[in-house]
Amino acid sequence: MASRSGFSNRFGFIAAAAGSAVGLGNIWRFPAETGANGGAAFLLVYLLCTVLIGYPIMVGEISLGRRTHSNPFGAYKTLGGKAWSWVGLFGILCGIMILSFYNVVAGWAFGYFIEISFSDLLQQQNFGEFFGAYVADISDNFIFSFFFMVLTVLIVMRGVQDGIETASKILMPFLFIILIGLIFYAFTLDGAMEGVAFYLVPDFSKITIETIYSAMGQAFFSLSLGMGALITYGSYISKKENILSSAAIVTAADFSVAFLAGLLIFPLVFSQGQTPGAGPGLVFVALPGIFQAMGPIAGKLIGGSFFLLLCVAALTSTISLLEVPVSYFVDQKKWPRKWVVPVLAAVVFLIGIPSMLSQGAVSALSAGGFVEYNGAGQSFLDLINDLFSEVGLPLGGFLMSLFIATKWKTHSMTAEISSGAPGYPGSRLEVVLNFTIRFISPILLGIIVLLTIGQKFLGISFF
Ligand code: TRP
Repeated sequence: MASRSGFSNRFGFIAAAAGSAVGLGNIWRFPAETGANGGAAFLLVYLLCTVLIGYPIMVGEISLGRRTHSNPFGAYKTLGGKAWSWVGLFGILCGIMILSFYNVVAGWAFGYFIEISFSDLLQQQNFGEFFGAYVADISDNFIFSFFFMVLTVLIVMRGVQDGIETASKILMPFLFIILIGLIFYAFTLDGAMEGVAFYLVPDFSKITIETIYSAMGQAFFSLSLGMGALITYGSYISKKENILSSAAIVTAADFSVAFLAGLLIFPLVFSQGQTPGAGPGLVFVALPGIFQAMGPIAGKLIGGSFFLLLCVAALTSTISLLEVPVSYFVDQKKWPRKWVVPVLAAVVFLIGIPSMLSQGAVSALSAGGFVEYNGAGQSFLDLINDLFSEVGLPLGGFLMSLFIATKWKTHSMTAEISSGAPGYPGSRLEVVLNFTIRFISPILLGIIVLLTIGQKFLGISFF
């Protein structure tokens, strides 16, 4: 496909893939999940999921993409025929649904940037109450998430190289630096060490089935796996690239940012006397406290920059989520990119509106008034998140492993990887990756998907 453009070089791909991985998943979702699932024990399980399952799946996805030069649907169709192409379509659907609520949360982050920098957010007395009122107030949310989607459109419209690559390369390193600076500051606060202990000293009795499937879901979400985002990005790289080392760098970068976010948030949560299991508002409630403590000017400046960088991180992720369905329509239907991008974005934005309204604005969509499962009332946003990230992504990973194991075959994957990594065939890593893709990953992910559905949705308790 000569008309397909690609990343300019190895660094461009790594920056874009790391940009896709690092996002709200690391800074907003990871601390909330860790806090709700027992702290250090969760961190440990999460690390295992990332290394043992996440990394091999990432290598598999990139290989499939580069082998076929195609979007997820095209990749499965080329190598597996019509029946398998449904897996690609399911991935594309997951991407659309995840983007629909991701964009809403990105709108909150953008709103916080504005409210901290240009208004009086940091003068609030109670950040928990403020957050609750903020997400229930539809006017701001509508405007900010709409604006966020427009930004995503502008970048995706410019295509892979100009838009996606440039945005990722320049701004991501700043996020890293500001996180580290804030951690040093947070450690000086009273009670901070209690937070560090919660985060780093595991209590193994807290590991349950829910810890395991939440950690796996989080690993897939954070690494952008399971729906073909990395098939799509892999389709834009050259045969010279070393997939193994690129994937390792992306995995390490993603884990590091999540780890640092936890190292920042939990000291804050404990020093401010909040509960770590507070749920999705955790970051939005814990962070303003530290900026407030810095005094009005420094707080505005540093707090404003933090949320701005969070928006940038979110943007390099929304880009990748939108690029997947876009590449499907551009490749398969030959529709022009400049029409596909805005139209799809508009559709995704509309799908996101019930999620936006489900945080208190409309009680029939909010927790308590919408659906009930997993022993509690869940909001529309919770439902979409549970269906498409918590179940959908590991299911996508399961199907991909099954596909490579039974249809494409691991020796074909080896052949693809060896271009750019000539020492790979016959290496110990090859043995490990093949064994994981053929046995560990399908069995483990298969069990996890069943347990998640059983426990979460059907109320069966296994242990
Ligand atoms: N990984 C991103 C984050 O952590 C979100 C994301 C981008 C994503 N692309 C994805 C999640 C594809 C799942 C699938 O914020």
